[in-house]
Amino acid sequence: MVFDQNEKVTLISPYGGKLIDLLIDEADRDSLFSYSTSLRSIQLTRRQACDLEMMTVGGFSPIDRFMSESDYRSVVRDMRLSDGTVFPIPVTLSIDSPELVETGSDVTLRDERNNVLAIMRVDEIYQPDRDAEAFAVAGTGDGKHPLVAEMTRWGRYNISGQLTVLSLPKYFDNRDLRLSPHEVRAGLSSLGRSNVVAFQTRNPLHNAHLAMTTRAMNEIDATLLLHPAVGMTKDGDIDHFTRVRSYRAVARDAYASGTAMLALIPLAMRMAGPREAVWHALIRRNYGASHFIVGRDHASPGVDSSGVPFYSPSAAGELAETHSRNIGVEIVSFDEFVYLPDDDRYEEIGKINKTVRTLSLSGTQVREDYLNMGKLLPPWFTRPEVAAILAESYPPLSRQGVCLWFTGLSGSGKSTTAENVSTMLLEHGRQVTMLDGDVVRTNLSKGLGFSRKDRETNIRRIGFVASEIARHGGFVICAAVSPYRQTRNEVRQMFRDGQFIEIFVDTPLSVCEGRDTKGMYAKARRGEIANFTGIGDTYEIPESPEITLNTTKRAAPDNASDIIRFLATKGFIDSTEPEPVVDSYI
Ligand code: ADX
Repeated sequence: MVFDQNEKVTLISPYGGKLIDLLIDEADRDSLFSYSTSLRSIQLTRRQACDLEMMTVGGFSPIDRFMSESDYRSVVRDMRLSDGTVFPIPVTLSIDSPELVETGSDVTLRDERNNVLAIMRVDEIYQPDRDAEAFAVAGTGDGKHPLVAEMTRWGRYNISGQLTVLSLPKYFDNRDLRLSPHEVRAGLSSLGRSNVVAFQTRNPLHNAHLAMTTRAMNEIDATLLLHPAVGMTKDGDIDHFTRVRSYRAVARDAYASGTAMLALIPLAMRMAGPREAVWHALIRRNYGASHFIVGRDHASPGVDSSGVPFYSPSAAGELAETHSRNIGVEIVSFDEFVYLPDDDRYEEIGKINKTVRTLSLSGTQVREDYLNMGKLLPPWFTRPEVAAILAESYPPLSRQGVCLWFTGLSGSGKSTTAENVSTMLLEHGRQVTMLDGDVVRTNLSKGLGFSRKDRETNIRRIGFVASEIARHGGFVICAAVSPYRQTRNEVRQMFRDGQFIEIFVDTPLSVCEGRDTKGMYAKARRGEIANFTGIGDTYEIPESPEITLNTTKRAAPDNASDIIRFLATKGFIDSTEPEPVVDSYI
């Protein structure tokens, strides 16, 4: 992005006076890097690395370290640092074993890939009160709240101390938009207005967002800072690559030139509604925003385990307004914006008394209601360019990947049924990859034997390859005995929800042995094959397979037709296409 440096205006000062900068000079980097490799290391989680980055560049100013015990307790209790500065969210570094670190000594902080990020001089090791923290920050102890759920996995101790940052986390995507507070300020100031209204989002922009931001810009004559969070949002949200494509399109097309600036913020959200709204506002002040938009359900985690919303829709706006003076940021709060079909425009719900339309834009719901079915999001809801980007990233289920995983005893009919299904799918116009256990053992898993360990390795290899195929939209059919429940479940985890279909070919041992098409059971009975499933080793029956087949009562082509029908019902194949001609296989 190129900014005109001539028309500079003064923006609001950072929160707490100046922007914190923890990154050391390039000149000192090499010597500190070799020192860092001699120290004990702590590997940061993604959240901790995002927090460290935000502190390093000044996004969390005046915070310059993971919180000390006194700051932590004060923030949990009063939403203030121990010096009285309002700061509503604890920013802490937890570890599991206190023996890993010693007070007074240095420790190296690394990212998930073990790259060195920083050196911390450990000043304090203390025990946090996670229950109090959950109730204060998230307002609940309910494990359905994503932060509360995550907190149960955090370490039992927090550490704090001075930070010397050697490197920021590395990103290879969208680098032109990953701007520090200094860079954002430079950009905003060149746009010529000292009023800046920031807008936070974790979703693709829809028309209610556009209506709100446009109204805020006009009402206060402000530049818009479109500032989507791309650090961590809520599980199940639309991925950030897709979102950023949509932000670029909207920033280009929907606002008059020179009135809006787009930048990405590496913020790890807490989904803590009201407290989070106050936090978002003060963070945006560091980036130069004098105003901050809070709409309905800001940073909302949805509903609790009894189906009741964690926060009321207006709670975030109310708390942010209460603290507006303390943090020096004006809150532009809105009621829910809804679409008025008769007038073809959006309005706040409190100001109208007409028929309205709304659509919730949770990633999962939009995918289920529209994208999986191959439907474009309607133009009243979002701009066509956004709808097109979403449709590209989330093709209908009939063009998404899927894995049919056949499991069952040797001779149960896995391969025969799988081959029938494969042919029928080809007739439906889908391409199919078959990973048959026996065939895989001649190439991918050549050299592996039949010990439990080798069998598990074989299954994991098949699972890995299958998951890569499915990830790229391919249809993959695996047919392997896969006798162990735990390994099958591990493989299931390699796939997106709904993408792994376990098919239990439920043929009794006596029938398989009676068929003995390959003479293997006879050999096993003679003791010539050790660990043969069903004879010398166990077969663990699937607990809840998506499909169970009976091969004694139904022929393979009929079972295959049942599977095809199942796939059509789920939407994995286009049910409008002709039914397969089962007769030709009999
Ligand atoms: S958030 O988690 O980042 O808050 P989202 O991206 O949905 O989620 O919202 C961004 C901002 O737009 C928030 O301030 C939210 O309150 C507001 N918002 C989203 N949809 C609406 C709507 N229909 N009416 C009013 N405000 C909305």
